[in-house]
Amino acid sequence: MNASDVKATLSFSDGSPSMDLPIYKGSIGPDVIDIRKLYGQTGKFTYDPGFLSTASCQSAITYIDGDKGELLYRGYPIEQLATNCDFLDTCYLLLYGELPNEQQQRDFHKLVNNHTMVNEQMQFFLRGFRRDAHPMAVMTGLVGGLSAFYHDSTDINNPKHREIAAIRLIAKMPTLVAMAYKYSIGQPYIYPKNNLSYAGNFMRMMFATPCEEYEPNDVLVRAMDRIFILHADHEQNASTSTVRLCGSSGTNPFAAIAAGVACLWGPSHGGANEACLNMLEEIQQMGGVEKIGEFIKQVKDKTSSVKLMGFGHRVYKNYDPRAKLMRETCHEVLTALGLENDPLFKLAMALEKIALEDEYFVSRKLYPNVDFYSGIVQRAIGIPVSLFTAIFALARTVGWIAQLNEMIADPEYKIGRPRQLFVGAERRDVPPLDKR
Ligand code: SDX
Repeated sequence: MNASDVKATLSFSDGSPSMDLPIYKGSIGPDVIDIRKLYGQTGKFTYDPGFLSTASCQSAITYIDGDKGELLYRGYPIEQLATNCDFLDTCYLLLYGELPNEQQQRDFHKLVNNHTMVNEQMQFFLRGFRRDAHPMAVMTGLVGGLSAFYHDSTDINNPKHREIAAIRLIAKMPTLVAMAYKYSIGQPYIYPKNNLSYAGNFMRMMFATPCEEYEPNDVLVRAMDRIFILHADHEQNASTSTVRLCGSSGTNPFAAIAAGVACLWGPSHGGANEACLNMLEEIQQMGGVEKIGEFIKQVKDKTSSVKLMGFGHRVYKNYDPRAKLMRETCHEVLTALGLENDPLFKLAMALEKIALEDEYFVSRKLYPNVDFYSGIVQRAIGIPVSLFTAIFALARTVGWIAQLNEMIADPEYKIGRPRQLFVGAERRDVPPLDKR
């Protein structure tokens, strides 16, 4: 980051001494005001619950322009990556900063493929869960449990440990998600097959059985790979910030990623794709397209706490570029499967059209986000609704670990420890029991 010639001057109306705050410029996007000396010089904190105006770090990985609806991974537009690259190329890019050449691509694919199996003991973790446990509960446990098997790669300050932990996590998430699925339907686990592509391997572990070979459908495999690319990273979103804060204590990378899985589960975040599909099915039950108006009325009624799931975003105040690509993929997959008249897809497009013309959504700059169409695509591929967020976690693991490793490699990083505005009871003495 570069110091700007412009400074911010903070002055107080009570005549307290003012102070100059340095401003830094990034390569693109908003400048930042450096407030690191604020408390030391003024005895005051800044106040920004939800971090709407706070940059928690400097990063070179992903950039979002919310007004333009632009998403760049290491400078490359998501539209170009989703069209010209596969997910492992995207992983390489997020981890190392450049797209791989042919040799690097071959080596990286081989490296990841060499780590797709999990320790046989992992299956006994699963046995502790009920078969109908939510897959995100299972994944939070399994990912955290990985740290018990890799004592050779848990020193987050060792660059080699950071790299092998990243490869292990990227390689093993598909295996763990597929195991969670197979466990929930009472089918045997399918081992990874390393001559398949990353997405092809995942689809086979999900849908093959020991009784017959699984013939991957190329359109579905390509769609799965694109879903992974679109979900790979997204600046300092809630789960990435969780991973950074968790990792800042020096804990091992598996534990930090498990914290990210737990945070992503929430319906305001990664859980929105599951909530969005359930919302579409609910409207379908109510009567479908004719009932959209009634549903929108509930959304606008503040006492109802009903939200249009898959709409709105903290940063995008324009159309989420991933939603556009997801809608395209949706159409491709449904057409390939002869489901172009899928009622939920038609309902989603009708809902989108109505919302985008409704003043309530327009005035609040609420547009479809990545979760609005992803559920329809995944359902068409055969993924159960309850597994949608686990798929999101599978894809986001590379973003989480790239961001974590970037933080740890930054010599300026320190353990995160926010302060507060205290509004509770002032000092008082404990009264005797008979006086309470
Ligand atoms: C993801 O951060 C990321 O980058 C996340 C993510 C990633 O890749 O990591 O992009 C993935 O989490 C996408 C978002 C998925 N969540 C949903 O689809 C859930 C529905 N969306 C909302 O919960 C909401 O839009 C958020 C949480 C996504 C964003 O909320 P903000 O930025 O805190 O906005 P807000 O709640 O302050 O909303 C501003 C106004 C409010 O109305 P008023 O009080 O001004 O009258 O817009 C309204 C909100 O009530 N609003 C909605 C709405 N989202 C916001 N009203 C109806 N439906 C919605 N979906």
